[in-house]
Order: sequence, then C-alpha cells, then structure tokens
Amino acid sequence: MNILKSVLAIMLVFGIAVIGFAYSGIFNVAATQSHDPVSSWLLETTRERSIEARLSDIQAPDLSDEKLRLAGINDFDSMCTECHTAPGRPPSSLAKGLNPPAPDLAEAALEESAEMLFWVTRNGIRMTGMPSWGVTHDDDDIWPVIAFLQVLPDLDGYSYQEMLESAEGEGHHAE
Ligand code: HEC
Repeated sequence: MNILKSVLAIMLVFGIAVIGFAYSGIFNVAATQSHDPVSSWLLETTRERSIEARLSDIQAPDLSDEKLRLAGINDFDSMCTECHTAPGRPPSSLAKGLNPPAPDLAEAALEESAEMLFWVTRNGIRMTGMPSWGVTHDDDDIWPVIAFLQVLPDLDGYSYQEMLESAEGEGHHAE
C-alpha cells in the first residue's frame, strides 16, 4: 500500500512539473531552435516506429510503368519541390526555414520502401512541415509520385529537366 502511495505521489509531482513547464513559457518553440539530443531521439524513434507499425495493409502496385513515372515527375515538381527541392535546383527560402528540414527524397527513395514513402506522402507527419496529401488526393494520384521517386536517385539537374519536359500533359498537375 505504501509503495502504491509513493508511486501516486511521484506521478502527481511529475504531472504538476509537466503542467508547470508548459505554463512557464521556458520552452522556446521557435523554428530556429534545434532539439536537444534526448528530444531528437524521442521524436525520431516515435516517428520511425509509428510509421513501421502502419505499413502492413499497404501494397505497392507495379511502379516500373514509364507513363506512371512521367505523371509522377509533373506531380512531384508541383507538389514537393518547394520543400524537398529538385536535382540541380537551389533550396527555396521556405525549405531553408523548415525545422525539421525536408530531407532529400532521392536519399529517402534509396533507403525506404515504396510503402513507407507512400504512407508518409498520404498521411503527412504531424508537427513537422510535411503535409498529408491524402486529404486532397486519392491513392491513385499519389502512387505516380512514388513511382517517380524510384528513378529520382539516378537524375542530375540536366536529366531531371529533360524528363520533366518529356512529361508534358501527364499527371494530374499537367500544364
Ligand atoms: C511544406 C513542405 C513540404 C512539402 C510541400 C512536402 N514535404 Fe515531405 N517532408 C517535409 C518535412 C519537413 C519532412 C521531414 C519530417 C520529419 O522530419 O519528420 C518531410 C518528410 C517527407 C518524407 C519522409 C522521408 C524520410 O526519409 O523520412 C517523405 C517520403 C516525404 N516527405 C514525401 C513528400 C512528397 C512525395 C511530397 C510531395 C507530394 C512532399 N513530401 C511535400 C516537408 C514537405
């Protein structure tokens, strides 16, 4: 019984400390501040484990179709490059101010599964600048971008621009 009382007392003190911390204004929410190592580890581990736990019901379609990739580059160029940039382009002012930064999607495509890339694109990541594209786009409009990401690591500034020009009229962001 005494142990139970002690545990409850510790939880109460901890709860009051957390509420006091929130009310105090000590924590600086500015995007110019970087996270301390403990918060970084907590946030990254939570994100990785959360995404992994939600991938089992996603099955990527055949992403090797050239037409799908051409649709994808147009959509990628319209929807993603402001934050993630494109090969051969300097980062935008918006991208420079993001915290956490938007990672290079060519590297992400080499390291992550198509299902992971799709899940993040569809659902976004809360409390970062990464929006949920699934709010405004069907799955069929998101898979072409993921198909394009499979070839993004092979492109430099010149071949990216060439592929973009050859994709005229493809994708739901075609102009
Ligand atoms: C408004 C800015 C913004 C736009 C636009 C945006 N993203 Fe992101 N994205 C981010 C940020 C910021 C992160 C990093 C989130 C984090 O660190 O948890 C991110 C992370 C990701 C990741 C996770 C990569 C990894 O290695 O963990 C993927 C995949 C991704 N974005 C895909 C896309 C795609 C595809 C598009 C376009 C359809 C897009 N994003 C558009 C800001 C953006």
